[in-house]
Amino acid sequence: MEVTRIEDKEHRQKEDPYMNVLDEWVTHYRSFTSEGRCASYIPVLEKADPSHLGICIIGPDGTMMKSGNWDVVFTLQSISKVISFIAVCLHHDISYVLDRVDLEPTGDPFNSIVRLEMHKPGKPFNPMINAGAITVSSLLPGVSTKEKLESLCELMEKMVGKRPTFNEEVFQSEWQTAYRNRALAYYLKETGYLEIEVEQALEVYLKQCSLEVNTEDIALIGLILAHDGYHPIRKEQILPKKIARLAKSLMLTCGVYNASGKFAAFIGLPAKSGVSGGIMATVPPRVRMEELPFINGCGIGIYGPAIDEFGTSVAGAMLLKQLANSWDLSIF
Ligand code: DON
Repeated sequence: MEVTRIEDKEHRQKEDPYMNVLDEWVTHYRSFTSEGRCASYIPVLEKADPSHLGICIIGPDGTMMKSGNWDVVFTLQSISKVISFIAVCLHHDISYVLDRVDLEPTGDPFNSIVRLEMHKPGKPFNPMINAGAITVSSLLPGVSTKEKLESLCELMEKMVGKRPTFNEEVFQSEWQTAYRNRALAYYLKETGYLEIEVEQALEVYLKQCSLEVNTEDIALIGLILAHDGYHPIRKEQILPKKIARLAKSLMLTCGVYNASGKFAAFIGLPAKSGVSGGIMATVPPRVRMEELPFINGCGIGIYGPAIDEFGTSVAGAMLLKQLANSWDLSIF
């Protein structure tokens, strides 16, 4: 494991009582990766190493703890839904966005279509499920697909300090097999919730899912959200508090779809999963009597491509639960 400060050019070891314990947990929970499977409905994702497990935690003073396969590059997948929602809220009035997508959990899987038809007039329930996320992607600023993706990459660059790379192979693999997402997009078009053409909305959405990150990148976004849109290391307000809070409330109530209730109850952190195995979690500053690690909040990025039936990293969720319980991270 490494404990470093983010502004350091070279990695600097620091005496830390929590250093070894994180390594132990990663080793322990890695054995549970066999309880999950790499996503196969996007064929290329199945090529990931299911035994990988890694984590990066970043505090507001720049302290970083990294362990396991923290540096593996993976595609954002549904974690991108948080970033596109923020980008869209930065560009439009929040009320304009919320006229087109709701803020209610569904209790259904991420790619479910059922509520679009059952609840008239068919407004998608939230921006974290695919139906809501496709709608949100269509609202990204710009006319062309390129411009819409550019607005997302610009926001990521502001938060992470570098532009995300794009994985063409993952995009192609999903583009060719996106039958369910196409069905969702056609339905949304018919009900009037998709203002651009179906194929363009899908292309934007699937391309944003194919942007690449590592655990450090998503930990940094988690840290900025933990501090209500303020980048505590660069000392810069990146997005308004109101938007950061909206994003966090969606992560808590809808971030892991039909597992969000249990995630809130047993982990107690706003978090967003992706089918490639990423989990982005955000820990706000806490008020506690005892000394605890990351008392001033942190961002957590986890990678473990063996996922469960809800589309969440199996070992990643276990590791996050261990951290939340041992370090008293829950917001409740
Ligand atoms: O649209 C899809 O199915 C994928 N590109 C993203 C789904 C996803 O990551 C679900 N979350 N865990």
